Amino acid sequence: MDSKKLQVQTPLILAPVPVVLVACAHEKLGYNLLTIAWCGVDCSSPEMIHVSIRPGRHSYRMIKESGCFTVNVPTVELTRQVDLCGVISGKDGDKFERAGLTAIPASKVEAPLVAECPVNIECELREVLELGVHHMFIGEVVAKQASADLVTDGKLDLTDLPLIVYVNGEYRVLGDVVGRSGFSLK
Ligand SMILES: Cc1cc2nc3c(=O)[nH]c(=O)nc-3n(C[C@H](O)[C@H](O)[C@H](O)COP(=O)(O)O)c2cc1C
Repeated sequence: MDSKKLQVQTPLILAPVPVVLVACAHEKLGYNLLTIAWCGVDCSSPEMIHVSIRPGRHSYRMIKESGCFTVNVPTVELTRQVDLCGVISGKDGDKFERAGLTAIPASKVEAPLVAECPVNIECELREVLELGVHHMFIGEVVAKQASADLVTDGKLDLTDLPLIVYVNGEYRVLGDVVGRSGFSLK
């Protein structure tokens, strides 16, 4: 790799980032979901995560007014649905139905879970930071669940899960394990 560094114009320099399906519920507008690449973990206690959403999205108002959302982690088999949920709007019809995805009740919040996603995180909205083009929705995690085959004694094992990451406009599958936490000290 060339040791010389050049300035870059590309905004997404923290790639790869995970792709998730964020679902919401609204008393007048029903259920909806959208694809989100800009999300992340912010705090471990209390557990807080964020998703960054443009105000023009149909889901924006739904989450802001309902005060909750769920983050659903898809695997590679769902790539087509993930893409579709990111290019059509819930303004134009039932996106769960159009994508062939199933909304099931969450345990603590009104927003539904996406049944087909093996990992589902329920959040109560704590803060919205109006950063600019995107507003950062910070949610406190109030419940987390995963498909039974991924859980042993309450611990989640993601080792074999083909998660999708988003790099420069392309979907990729998370690759090989190249080390375990702390291996550099051994
Ligand atoms: C791979 C991918 C990643 C996306 N990431 C974001 C994001 O982080 N924030 C955002 O506001 N929109 C993002 N979008 C766009 C929304 O998912 C898209 O505008 C969607 O149609 C909004 O749906 P809604 O109007 O039903 O809320 C992404 C789209 C794709 C395909």
